[in-house]
Amino acid sequence: MPRTSKAAGSVALVTGANRGIGQAFVQELAARGARKVYAGVRSPSDVTDEFSELPVEIVPLDVTDLAAVQAAAAACPDVNLLVNNAGLFTNNRLVRTDDPDAARREMEVNYFGVLNMTRAFAPVLGANGGGYIANVLSVAGAFPAPFMGGYSPAKAAALFLSSITRSELAEQGTEVIALIVGSVDTRMAAHVQGRKEDPRDIARAGLTALDRGEYVASCPLAAGAPGSPPSTCTPPTAKMASAQRANCATRSSASSDTSAREGAARC
Ligand SMILES: NC(=O)c1ccc[n+]([C@@H]2O[C@H](COP(=O)([O-])OP(=O)(O)OC[C@H]3O[C@@H](n4cnc5c(N)ncnc54)[C@H](OP(=O)(O)O)[C@@H]3O)[C@@H](O)[C@H]2O)c1
Repeated sequence: MPRTSKAAGSVALVTGANRGIGQAFVQELAARGARKVYAGVRSPSDVTDEFSELPVEIVPLDVTDLAAVQAAAAACPDVNLLVNNAGLFTNNRLVRTDDPDAARREMEVNYFGVLNMTRAFAPVLGANGGGYIANVLSVAGAFPAPFMGGYSPAKAAALFLSSITRSELAEQGTEVIALIVGSVDTRMAAHVQGRKEDPRDIARAGLTALDRGEYVASCPLAAGAPGSPPSTCTPPTAKMASAQRANCATRSSASSDTSAREGAARC
């Protein structure tokens, strides 16, 4: 971790904070000295002791519900670091699908959810000195991934959104980072065989890339896929590097961010 992390002393809000990568971001922000972390969750009553002893405040938040998003912005006026992490992957094809509405639901969460949050919190960030936005994206958004029908286009849209947000909010001093993520060991990738990264490593990598002032950063498993920049996150640990090599040798037929990457990877 750099000597002075942008997370230190920050007031952060993480969407989809009750599990997986979102929960890991909350823990890593606290470990880096965040003053307060708002944990945005859809079902506050389901959160038990995940965040005990941490400076965490639970905020009810469905990112597709405009009224809830605006209420969160009003209730959290001190936020200066926003992590747009909430995401949905339905594991459907785009054209030959039995669930044609799935693509719309994926777009609602993965693209419009990020847009809703960005619009609502831009004035809050501006009022708090500019601040930071970290968008948790996917290697499937950096190139078109078959079998990830609605998810891949929605993440691609969110990648463009990240660039445009960066330009639009530059004048108020808001820094925006797009974090390109490969397969991670969470509910979303429960069906995936093969190498998956630890969610905490993703949070560490994302916050370290933010500290470095990067604006598109690939986590190790995502690096090297077409459309993804090389890994500029925390350099892979020895453990990660060897697991990455193993992953390159293990071809999975499961539809996932891993198989998306493997479909065109240059391992
Ligand atoms: N796991 C991977 O392999 C992988 C790879 C690349 C990118 N990512 C991205 O990483 C992010 C986190 O995913 P994860 O792996 O941690 O998956 P996860 O374990 O399934 O967690 C997804 C989180 O998003 C929340 N969420 C879903 N819809 C929401 C909505 N409408 N409003 C607010 N929150 C909502 C979920 O809440 P509930 O618990 O209430 O459902 C949950 O907290 C996502 O953006 C995902 O696309 C993951």
